Amino acid sequence: MRIYSRILGTGSYLPEKRLTNADLAAELSQQGVETSDDWIIERTGIRARHFAADTQGSSDLATEAARQALTAAGISAEELDLIIVATSTPDMVFPSVATMVQHKLGTAGCPAFDVQAVCSGFIYALTIADSMIQSGSAKRALVIGSEVFSRILDFKDRTTCVLFGDGAGAVILEASEQPGILATDLHADGKYKDILCVPGHVNRGGILGDPVLKMDGQAVFKLAVGVLEETARASLAKANMTDADIDWLIPHQANIRIMQSTARKLRMSPDKVVVTVDQHGNTSAASIPLALDTAVRDGRIQRGQTLMLEGVGGGFTWGSVLLRY
Ligand code: UT7
Repeated sequence: MRIYSRILGTGSYLPEKRLTNADLAAELSQQGVETSDDWIIERTGIRARHFAADTQGSSDLATEAARQALTAAGISAEELDLIIVATSTPDMVFPSVATMVQHKLGTAGCPAFDVQAVCSGFIYALTIADSMIQSGSAKRALVIGSEVFSRILDFKDRTTCVLFGDGAGAVILEASEQPGILATDLHADGKYKDILCVPGHVNRGGILGDPVLKMDGQAVFKLAVGVLEETARASLAKANMTDADIDWLIPHQANIRIMQSTARKLRMSPDKVVVTVDQHGNTSAASIPLALDTAVRDGRIQRGQTLMLEGVGGGFTWGSVLLRY
């Protein structure tokens, strides 16, 4: 009998501070950086994003999302035997966000670690949790994507600072004989490191290099549309399914144009794509679980439906998870 990882519950958290494009444009204009609501909407589909308070770290956002997911799953933190957090913006260099979340949830003992695959991080984390559940080393896993990208943005660079936001999303996975995750597909190619990176790092008590996000947007765009179709097709092939079997496409939320193009390539109607980039901006590893939780809570996603989750990001990394909800 095959053991599947099945989603028991989902949760998410967005920090209180919400900035519309107009709010952000007004703040940037005071620093001599010119942008507009029209440009941001037309090129990206983004209308608003949330920024964490100075006192909030990724572990705080992650813990809120985790609490919601635990409640939705109807289990307590003590029942977890695995915690994985996907993040590129941890509270500290170490220890991991996952161990902080474990402690904030009031539990201890089970393995807890972070995964760093930038915007594909949640897909990587979900795949690792699925492998551990299938191998029998875990039965109930908490998998989170949590980011405070506002901390690594250069607010003098209008080509990047208008794109990102903060947030967290979480799922509880449980070992089940009923289908859950059907297929996964992961990839990376390190030759693309310079087109999306934060080159600065801690060095002897200071920062060496520029600790803010750098992106060649057009290069990333071209790469993203190609690999998102490829990885979706790879997961479908592994599960002996076709694009016609997908009920909902839940792609990484970076740019509405990339998402629409992926949907076209997969011959899916745009209304089968879960879109939250308009309200959240690009929240990196948090974007997919945030979108998933949004569509579960508003009733679009129903039990028994087939979901294609897919992400692409710095590294480059990319991948997909095909699952029965
Ligand atoms: O999460 C990882 C994945 N990340 C992504 O998927 C991001 C992928 N890339 C993109 O989404 C798009 O490439 C961007 C949204 C980043 C940029 O859109 P674009 O259509 O590729 O614009 P562009 O870079 O070609 O810039 C067009 C113009 C430029 O002006 P000129 O040279 O034509 O005069 C930019 O200076 O738009 C200008 N521009 C802006 N104008 C107003 C760039 N940023 C802004 C801005 N406000 N914020």
